[in-house]
Amino acid sequence: MWYLIFLALLFDISACQKCLRPDALITQTIENEGFHRDIKYLIEFSSNNVNILFSAHCKVALRQDIPLGLFVNPDQIADLVRVKKLLAYIDGNVNVETPMHHSEQHSTYIYSINDTFSRISLELPIHLRYQRAQITGGFGKVELPKPSLLVHCPEGAILCGSSQKVEAPCDYTGAKSCMWSNVSYKAITNDIEMMVPVGDLDHYPIVSIVTFLVACAGCIYILSVLSTTIL
Ligand SMILES: *[C@@H]1O[C@H](CO)[C@@H](O)[C@H](O)[C@H]1NC(C)=O
Ligand SMILES: *[C@@H]1O[C@H](CO)[C@@H](O)[C@H](O)[C@H]1NC(C)=O
Repeated sequence: MWYLIFLALLFDISACQKCLRPDALITQTIENEGFHRDIKYLIEFSSNNVNILFSAHCKVALRQDIPLGLFVNPDQIADLVRVKKLLAYIDGNVNVETPMHHSEQHSTYIYSINDTFSRISLELPIHLRYQRAQITGGFGKVELPKPSLLVHCPEGAILCGSSQKVEAPCDYTGAKSCMWSNVSYKAITNDIEMMVPVGDLDHYPIVSIVTFLVACAGCIYILSVLSTTIL
């Protein structure tokens, strides 16, 4: 009898150690001011999680949905990928020129560079889009959604119980897709909001008049230079 209980206990403990009960914290901060900023993420798994992730050769990634008011610059990401400072894949079309109300949404997958799982720090450069001018001017608000924390282990499901599965690129090349587990985590920071200065419609007449006058002055100058050289 005792022997059976002992066996059951042993089985239970070993089962417990083999499967992953996600216990992660994510700190998200924004650096810099103005239109060009960096999102910094710090992912911290508990030491128990770290051992399991490491022994199962798992990979960790973040999926950050980029709202309409922001964009990631594909050229800049490609440069960072080339020097291996960032491993990221952009899902969706990005037009870096369009203002917010003419833009499409996209997502970015950011992959951890190191296989050390205790403290994963990742950084994503983002840019704010111009927003439609308003009568009042002032500031527009952009809210950054929380990222999804994705875990993929080649040995298959190691998460205890069932977890939400999502299909996502296996790595930054985006060549193949893998099934990832969408893992819950504790967000340490509050939701992030960014303020972007919005053009003031009241300034439009002044701006156009000034532009017109400057253009006229330029024409007159060129004409006068031409006429003196010709004469
Ligand atoms: C990766 O790990 C190495 C050594 O452990 C460290 O020097 C480097 O800064 C880490 N890189 C990143 C991006 O965390
Ligand atoms: C992952 O799960 C969270 C919480 O349930 C959800 O908000 C998020 O959209 C999911 N992410 C993906 C990529 O499905």
